[in-house]
Amino acid sequence: MSIQYEKEKGLIRLNTRSSTYAMQLLPGGYLAHLYYGPRVGADDLRYLIRYVDRPQAPNPPGSEDRIFSLNILPQEYPGFGCGDYRSAAVNCRGADGCFAADLRAEAVEVLTDTMLPVGLPHFHAFASEAHDTLRIRMADPAIGLQAELYYTLFEEQDAIVRWTRFINGGETPLILDRAMSFSLDFAAGDFDWLQLWGGWSRERHVERSPLRHGIQAAESRRGASSSQHNPFIALASPTADETQGEVYGFALAYSGNHLCFAEKDQYGGVRVGLGIHPEAFAWTLEPGGSFDTPQCAAVYASDGLGGMSRKFHLLIQRHLCRGPWRDRPRPVLINNWEATYFQFNADKLAAIAADAARLGIEMLVMDDGWFGKRDDDRSGLGDWTVNEAKLGCTLPELVSRIREQGLQFGIWFEPEMVSPDSDLYRRHPDWILKAPSRTPSLGRSQYVLDMSRPEVVDYLYGAMAAILRSAEITYVKWDMNRYITEAGSAALSPNRQGEVFHRYILGVYRLLDQLTADFPEVLFEGCASGGGRFDPGMLYYTPQIWTSDDTDAIERLSIQYGTSLLYPPACMACHVSAVPNHQVARTTPLETRTAAAMAGVFGCELDLTTLSREEKEILGREIARYKRLRPLIMEGELYRLKSPFEKGERGLGAAWMLVSRDKTHALVTAVQAMAIPDTPFFRLRLQGLLPQAAYRVEPDGFILSGAALMGAGLNLPYIIGDYGALTYELTMCGG
Ligand code: DGJ
Repeated sequence: MSIQYEKEKGLIRLNTRSSTYAMQLLPGGYLAHLYYGPRVGADDLRYLIRYVDRPQAPNPPGSEDRIFSLNILPQEYPGFGCGDYRSAAVNCRGADGCFAADLRAEAVEVLTDTMLPVGLPHFHAFASEAHDTLRIRMADPAIGLQAELYYTLFEEQDAIVRWTRFINGGETPLILDRAMSFSLDFAAGDFDWLQLWGGWSRERHVERSPLRHGIQAAESRRGASSSQHNPFIALASPTADETQGEVYGFALAYSGNHLCFAEKDQYGGVRVGLGIHPEAFAWTLEPGGSFDTPQCAAVYASDGLGGMSRKFHLLIQRHLCRGPWRDRPRPVLINNWEATYFQFNADKLAAIAADAARLGIEMLVMDDGWFGKRDDDRSGLGDWTVNEAKLGCTLPELVSRIREQGLQFGIWFEPEMVSPDSDLYRRHPDWILKAPSRTPSLGRSQYVLDMSRPEVVDYLYGAMAAILRSAEITYVKWDMNRYITEAGSAALSPNRQGEVFHRYILGVYRLLDQLTADFPEVLFEGCASGGGRFDPGMLYYTPQIWTSDDTDAIERLSIQYGTSLLYPPACMACHVSAVPNHQVARTTPLETRTAAAMAGVFGCELDLTTLSREEKEILGREIARYKRLRPLIMEGELYRLKSPFEKGERGLGAAWMLVSRDKTHALVTAVQAMAIPDTPFFRLRLQGLLPQAAYRVEPDGFILSGAALMGAGLNLPYIIGDYGALTYELTMCGG
């Protein structure tokens, strides 16, 4: 049994393959957190809590001996205002208007059914695999608040998925001011903090620093998970690296405002919390009403950051992504954005498609500019009718022309936005998010639609479904190019405006849910000015996401390396683009651009008609190679060998490898940053192979054991020139 409850001791143990998570029900219903770490036996872990009279620690009523204080107790789901001064998981106002919450456990149940948050993305179990769920019912009778804490175990991935359902069990409305998905107290906090920070075109760079006293947070108040801080954090032992050491990773399945924090207290204890950002959040719970938090997944790994990532990759790829496209080979596509921007018509797209077909590309994606009046980014959003005058034909005619060349057809939408210069805005100016007493701000000359309103979601569904039904379209790129300001909804009363940010995301999820359900054969790719909403929540609906608007191969090394900390290669869209690169004006060899794009879902984003014969030959060859390696790249295990964030003397920019799950096949990629004269040779120690097996190493033709490749390493030759790349394919040939 992976969930054990010893009622007489009040002990709860959650065991995954290599981890144990333990709690204790104390007299009075207080729920203490006992332990999270390497798997232990059936020990009585109650010894882990010590009770002492601490200064400045308030004692709840009935604890006259002064040794019990919520401020000292490691807690499972702490409230606010009743003796614990650390960051709360829940804060709520009842009829008295006071900010306070003090939940006590009332029942512990092991469920055979998985319970799921309503209207939110979630990790799902397969019927054939045991995924137990624990429910702890809690209540704060003083205000009538009830909470159900849910824990589902994914044993193989050493993952625990948590979320909470709040219920108003009283007779007067409650206001939830803070409703975190996850809270955890570590008794000792000698950790490094890891986060994925960034900005537009610099998404998900890895930052690591010792956890200091006070609060360290990764957060978004932008209405989307954001390019700036991914909803993911990890706590690692200071000596942990890619291959060894303890790491705890936490990922929130949510695409809106988030708060992911670690708070180190005066005793060195660390509280971790993840959930909807409490700023600008206030949710009214009517009597009998309920509120579900998003899910948060925690993964424990004793084999370093690489081990943590591989567990998350499997969890995300198998238990979060869904639909027919989860396991299908993703098409190699050509997107016309960097080829033409807004200046294209059907003839231009057909010319690109003709070259694409010759190179083995499988799909053409028509990006921004095909609808309404849209020749630049200042008009047309919201008017999802085909601009036939611009294209020179109807959409079905264009799609037929592309399909006749042997390519599938994909299309771009930015559903959540409206241009002031659009028929939709002229018809429905009240459909945007705005505060009644303020003039709404523009971003990229556009407003944000009020996705909290059912009629807006219904309009978008109708408009998008009509396009998808009008022709054979098998892919949608779902873009979102500005964040939210003046988050007010004309559909909500003034006292409920604290619900707008969350209701917005619920509306986005509803639209995604309906479209993915009604068009299961369409592959949806997420995008938000590149990777501005690359999060586990979106991956539930869109199994791949445009990783970044930065298509430069060298910049992509850092972006893709950081992204891979949490997200599997099969979720990262990576395109080969033109040189000089449009974002940084860098010129890199074509082989380096293809090597970088082979770290994920490969595509192209350039005007193929302008390539030389030699460039076309190289690209065609690399596309054929990618298609041959696609099962390995999509399904294999990722091992990061050299971080682009650590500057080495030898000029190696980054290196990584993908190993098939049966260990018979591997692809190794090493990319040089700036060339250095007369450098020492560099040995790249591989990972993830079978030590006793023999591997043929191509292109060198050597046959080496896994032990030699992992111990002594590949002996890399000089890489000539800046930004050169080397790739090796390993095939098991004995052992
Ligand atoms: C931002 C996306 O990231 C780009 O790839 C492109 O689709 C543009 N938007 C179109 O406006």
